[in-house]
Amino acid sequence: MPSATAHRHPQHPSPWVRRFADLVPKQATVLDLTCGGGRHTRFFAARSHPVTAVDRDVSAIEDLRGRVEVIEADLEDGSAWPLPGRRFGAVIVTNYLYRPLFPTLIDTVAAGGLLIYETFGVGNEKFSRPRNPDHLLRPGELLKRVEGALQVVAYEAGITPQPAVVQRIVAIRSDEPVVLPDAEYP
Ligand SMILES: C[S@@+](CC[C@H](N)C(=O)[O-])C[C@H]1O[C@@H](n2cnc3c(N)ncnc32)[C@H](O)[C@@H]1O
Repeated sequence: MPSATAHRHPQHPSPWVRRFADLVPKQATVLDLTCGGGRHTRFFAARSHPVTAVDRDVSAIEDLRGRVEVIEADLEDGSAWPLPGRRFGAVIVTNYLYRPLFPTLIDTVAAGGLLIYETFGVGNEKFSRPRNPDHLLRPGELLKRVEGALQVVAYEAGITPQPAVVQRIVAIRSDEPVVLPDAEYP
């Protein structure tokens, strides 16, 4: 069961993450960076992936200790990257942006592994938070960030029904074509 503080966070995995989860190699390690309430940590742990969950506030995932690797770390305070030398079969980042992390994030994707990223984009400030441009992706930014390092499998950018302006990418460290999931995935 999620902890009492989990109510502050969305509970359901992002449909974008769910849709592409089958591309994550079976048994591959998963990094849920800035996991919040752990909705993606829980999702991938339930699919039998070893999961590492990182956040500066891990109070909402205390119930997962022992089942997943929980790392409490502030990623923006100038301290060292908490996962030096480690690579993951999937790196998941949702609803978070701290631009200086991009090179490290991309480097953290293992051979054959995926980066699944989804967060808000410029224009979202008209609808809701976040409104700070430091927390909003510029048009096409996720494509530019992975260029030359990862193969783009899927990308979307635009206004959701919520409404919110979002940008989403799935990119793989491989030059091979991948089998795309069914577009009708619920
Ligand atoms: C909007 S929540 C998103 C949580 C989760 N990824 C999700 O989509 O459900 C943003 C998360 O980023 C974490 N966070 C913000 N700044 C951070 C920092 N400097 N270092 C580590 N985590 C941070 C917050 O604690 C929060 O859990």
